[in-house]
Amino acid sequence: MPKVWIEKLLDEPELYLLRIDDDKIKYFEATWDIPEGITYNAYLMKTDSAVVLFDAWKKDYTNEFLEALSSIVDPKEITHIVVHHMEPDHSGALPRLLELNGYKAKIIGTVFAKRLLEAFYDIKENVHAIEDGEELKIGSRTLKFITVPWLHWPDTMITYVVEDKIIFSCDAGGGYSIPEAIDDSDDEVVERYLPHVTKYIVTVIGHYHKYIVENIEKIKELGIVDDVRMILPGHGLIWRKNPQKIFEHYEKVGAGVPKKGKVLVIYDSMYGFVEESVRVAVNELERLGFTPVVYRYTDKEAPAVSDILGEVPDSEALVIGASTYEAGIHPRIRYLLYEMLDKANYEKPVLILGTFGWAGVAGREIETLIKRSKFDHVDTIEVKGRTTPEDEVRIREGVRELVKRLRR
Ligand SMILES: Cc1cc2nc3c(=O)[nH]c(=O)nc-3n(C[C@H](O)[C@H](O)[C@H](O)COP(=O)(O)O)c2cc1C
Ligand SMILES: [Fe+2]
Ligand SMILES: [Fe+2]
Repeated sequence: MPKVWIEKLLDEPELYLLRIDDDKIKYFEATWDIPEGITYNAYLMKTDSAVVLFDAWKKDYTNEFLEALSSIVDPKEITHIVVHHMEPDHSGALPRLLELNGYKAKIIGTVFAKRLLEAFYDIKENVHAIEDGEELKIGSRTLKFITVPWLHWPDTMITYVVEDKIIFSCDAGGGYSIPEAIDDSDDEVVERYLPHVTKYIVTVIGHYHKYIVENIEKIKELGIVDDVRMILPGHGLIWRKNPQKIFEHYEKVGAGVPKKGKVLVIYDSMYGFVEESVRVAVNELERLGFTPVVYRYTDKEAPAVSDILGEVPDSEALVIGASTYEAGIHPRIRYLLYEMLDKANYEKPVLILGTFGWAGVAGREIETLIKRSKFDHVDTIEVKGRTTPEDEVRIREGVRELVKRLRR
């Protein structure tokens, strides 16, 4: 059974985290391999006469959600439900909850969320669509609603509790995996968790990554980030020791800030020819003091695309090796590129190593794709079959060109 956490975060107002650790899921959004799992976090706040629920869990865990919630409050007593985002990993349990609640709670969300409530669950009554920046006095607290479009959907907003300086941030600030703690108090837990945040950002929000930077800028300009007391996301750790850190991490990933020396090397090799070329490039990178991070597709291994995408934002440069396969790019690299150019499209230099038997196609096709993207095409080196000493010279030159282009 997935673990359920019910944790009191504050006494005044009474505030609870309701978290479930989804260790059964394999592919988030039916696409992204997450053997590390994910958590769904909902929150409940009691203030004077008001009982406010912030989001819920995935539909599969409706029974667990209602049980956890009922251990704190009778669902009939919930007066308000804040819907930050309608993706069903947060909204799936709402219809059953509303039934138990007798449809008494006022639902609060954006105009888009209102439309999606109807489209997904036929919920039309008692829904208040907020204006960006609107403040509502609920119980003894003032809730300010701020829209953050495309973090992760057009419907998405966050809530700021004015008196307590708390941000409920839903997908923004979230990450994959099942951290062993609820918060950021242990630095080692945080260090282990952050790569899962990067992977989450790229795979889930990566398509819209420019909006990450824009929206965090928008929240900062409201002056609510500098002295925020807690950031409470819809997935993963909550942030109360150093809450700014999670938004800083989001900004870094959104902007693709590189880690000095990291070069991502990705290739396929069916029978070892591409591998020969890549080995030369890796050797040259190491000789120049770089740290290649290598992922390969062979007849023995096939790394998850989601893991590779998570490596792109903090890489300084990329080397892509591919064999020509039926007059095209090897299928594994073709799919990887398709996702990478969509989700992890950054201004970083790329060197292409294309290999072929009778007519080089892979290198050229990858070059066309790279040139159409934000990536900076440095060179394409075509190798016919084995890597000859002349090829080796060209590959080493290509690597030297690649590192000359780094934004430093
Ligand atoms: C299934 C398959 C399809 C191939 N299709 C082509 C092709 O259309 N054009 C070509 O020039 N070479 C083709 N090749 C040859 C490879 O691109 C070439 O041998 C390359 O060096 C393979 O490197 P690798 O063994 O490291 O993957 C094909 C090879 C295989 C196994
Ligand atoms: Fe989402
Ligand atoms: Fe989510």
